[in-house]
Amino acid sequence: MKTNNKIPVDVILEGDCAEVMKTLPDESVDLIFADPPYNLQLGGDLHRPDNSKVDAVDNDWDQIGDFDAYDLFSCAWLEEARRVLKPNGALWTIGSYHNIFRVGAFLQDMGFWILNDVIWRKSNPMPNFKGTRFTNAHETLIWASKTKDAKPTFNYAAMKALNDGVQMRSDWTLPICAGGERLKNKDGKKAHPTQKPESLLHRVLLATSNPGDVVLDPFFGTGTTGAVAKKLGRHYIGIEADPGYATWRASASPPSTPPAKTCCRSPSPSAPCRGFPLVRSLKRDC
Ligand SMILES: C[S@@+](CC[C@H](N)C(=O)[O-])C[C@H]1O[C@@H](n2cnc3c(N)ncnc32)[C@H](O)[C@@H]1O
Repeated sequence: MKTNNKIPVDVILEGDCAEVMKTLPDESVDLIFADPPYNLQLGGDLHRPDNSKVDAVDNDWDQIGDFDAYDLFSCAWLEEARRVLKPNGALWTIGSYHNIFRVGAFLQDMGFWILNDVIWRKSNPMPNFKGTRFTNAHETLIWASKTKDAKPTFNYAAMKALNDGVQMRSDWTLPICAGGERLKNKDGKKAHPTQKPESLLHRVLLATSNPGDVVLDPFFGTGTTGAVAKKLGRHYIGIEADPGYATWRASASPPSTPPAKTCCRSPSPSAPCRGFPLVRSLKRDC
């Protein structure tokens, strides 16, 4: 297994992230990108005007419970995330109106210092089929340093260059993950309901990390963070309760995914781990 200052890097660790992070040393990662369950609590099926069913996020992993349960869940992973973050490190988290304000309040209560909230404006959002509310066309990202006095990485010039020479703003218009980038299962259905677009992670990692940095994603999903980290020369540590998700990226190899250099243990013989080395615990080497 590859290591960086004695922590495993470029791996996916399987399990509950609050528990798995306990196995990582204090102050060992440079950046965290966390895309936690939003706890959507949708009430029943949603249909389009033509009566077709909307493929909504109704997975068990998103059903955390009531607000108290969600707060306990958030505190558990945020405390560990804070412990493993280097003093000048920073954390990004993303969410919707269902959860982001609760997570933001905890960040502040724990001593994180919010640097920006970024609006990801979706250029192709799903309509509000019932016509009872505004189209839900954005998600919110929070970028926070570990403390008020920390000096987190911000690649100002790179962002300006990416934005036609004009200072990058905090509202980013980017499409949702679709087309060839969207990982599909054998039936042609989405492999994961909330796969994030690489363009979003590209901006986050380019802006707030440097080559060689270790980026931790405690809710790895299909591993968008890992794929972009690899492309940008950063190391990643992914934690995922259901590591089967990440094998879709490995086995699907969409056009945007570079050829893999590493091959090791996979949870399913039919899903060769071409993109990511996967470990089921820190003790089992690739
Ligand atoms: C919102 S999705 C992340 C999607 C990811 N950003 C991507 O681009 O594919 C949240 C992920 O967290 C995982 N998850 C939920 N609870 C978890 C926990 N306690 N520890 C680790 N992973 C968890 C779910 O299985 C799901 O894949």
